[in-house]
Amino acid sequence: MLSGKSAKKMGNFSHSAGGTKHGGTRGIITTLIGIFFGFFLGLSFPMWSLNKFTLSSSLLPIPDLSKHDNQQMRPLPQVSSENGCNSSSTEAPKVNDTSKILVQSKPRGAEKLPPGIIAAESDFYLRRLFGDPKEDLTFKQRYLVTFTVGYNQRNNIDAVVKKFSENFTILLFHYDGRTTEWNEFEWAKRAIHVSVPKQTKWWYAKRFLHPDIVAPYEYIFIWDEDLGVEHFDAEEYLKLVRKHGLEISQPGLEPDRKLNWLMTKRINGSEVHKKVEEPPGRCRDPHLPPCAAFVEIMAPVFTREAWRCIWYLLQNDLVHGWGFDLALRKCVEPAHEKIGVVDAQWIVHQSFPSLGNQGVSRNGSAPWQGVRDRCGKEWAMFNSRLRDAEIAQERASGGP
Ligand SMILES: *[C@@H]1O[C@H](CO)[C@@H](O)[C@H](O)[C@H]1NC(C)=O
Ligand SMILES: *[C@@H]1O[C@H](CO)[C@@H](O)[C@H](O)[C@H]1NC(C)=O
Ligand SMILES: *[C@@H]1O[C@H](CO)[C@@H](O)[C@H](O)[C@H]1NC(C)=O
Ligand SMILES: *[C@@H]1O[C@H](CO)[C@@H](O)[C@H](O)[C@H]1NC(C)=O
Ligand SMILES: *[C@@H]1O[C@H](CO)[C@@H](O)[C@H](O)[C@H]1NC(C)=O
Repeated sequence: MLSGKSAKKMGNFSHSAGGTKHGGTRGIITTLIGIFFGFFLGLSFPMWSLNKFTLSSSLLPIPDLSKHDNQQMRPLPQVSSENGCNSSSTEAPKVNDTSKILVQSKPRGAEKLPPGIIAAESDFYLRRLFGDPKEDLTFKQRYLVTFTVGYNQRNNIDAVVKKFSENFTILLFHYDGRTTEWNEFEWAKRAIHVSVPKQTKWWYAKRFLHPDIVAPYEYIFIWDEDLGVEHFDAEEYLKLVRKHGLEISQPGLEPDRKLNWLMTKRINGSEVHKKVEEPPGRCRDPHLPPCAAFVEIMAPVFTREAWRCIWYLLQNDLVHGWGFDLALRKCVEPAHEKIGVVDAQWIVHQSFPSLGNQGVSRNGSAPWQGVRDRCGKEWAMFNSRLRDAEIAQERASGGP
């Protein structure tokens, strides 16, 4: 593992060398390894705590995602078949393998290259600027945890990070542009920092967590900043996730609060649960949301394999993620067995008023109203897109 000291040096080096710290564009992606990219952001949508949307989402009707569930689950159309779900090997193909490899395993765009040189995947491991590259990585973290943060929540994030062992790479998405201040925490010096103003967790996830980039990480936590983790330990959590075969999971939520869904509420005395009984009429099918097969978007944990599919399902304009939780099950089969809530390692949803009022006030309505409306709009678009895609696929494969 790279020491904080050398990481800091690199940060300093990059500041003096790059000189882009106060660049003209508003979006600056910063990492401590000293790579800076500046780019213009066409979007200036306000951000809002995702949690509040989740809490208020019961006000909206639950869209009918179950329409096509009686049919056999089919894989989603692959965006890039050459580089689809089978390309998870982290090793370059053996040069002396059969011609099959020459044809099949080259990612799109790499056809001209000899397979032995193709580096199809990457990682967030920090490297030194000097010495033998082979000796850079004395330790490779096996898991990845990301937090979407503002500086005001630093003390909570500091407490949360302490529940994640050295086996985790820590990646912070900063929505308020404040990154260097975090160096007051020792761990922040070896974390990866990505800073783009006023974007949401799922915007960052789509852009910076491509499955080929996060390929070395067995589990990926994509978390909000306002979670209380007094009763949570990440390594213990993963033991239970493995034991119960969960591909998509979240920690149980402290039950003495008003929650939207029973599914994500912690059950005292249980290790893991995969289904609940909602009041009569709420669940048409006991294997489908909201009775089973979903977790909420505030603190999900994915296996590498599940994330590879989820990333493709995530739309570029589904930035608030409303309704995404109900669709996650499209990526695992059978969903009611592979999606679950870990009761024995649980969290409290604290609902800090983080970026709540960064919406834009229009026509006299409260700023959050515009953000909320947008959430519903995204959700509706996502639903009809998904439905259309499924119908098109059924037709193409000779279905009804
Ligand atoms: C993935 O690989 C397995 C065996 O290597 C093969 O049976 C399967 O058809 C492949 N799936 C896809 C989608 O290419
Ligand atoms: C291919 O490489 C493997 C080791 O990677 C070796 O055992 C095998 O003999 C090689 N085959 C040929 C045909 O060279
Ligand atoms: C980190 O992972 C290794 C390998 O699985 C394990 O032995 C070790 O206990 C883990 N560290 C902690 C703090 O759990
Ligand atoms: C969980 O159950 C145990 C024993 O059944 C009880 O002592 C404890 O207070 C309960 N905890 C909560 C948070 O309800
Ligand atoms: C504001 O009001 C005007 C006129 O009533 C309307 O055309 C416009 O769409 C409204 N804008 C928003 C954001 O609601």
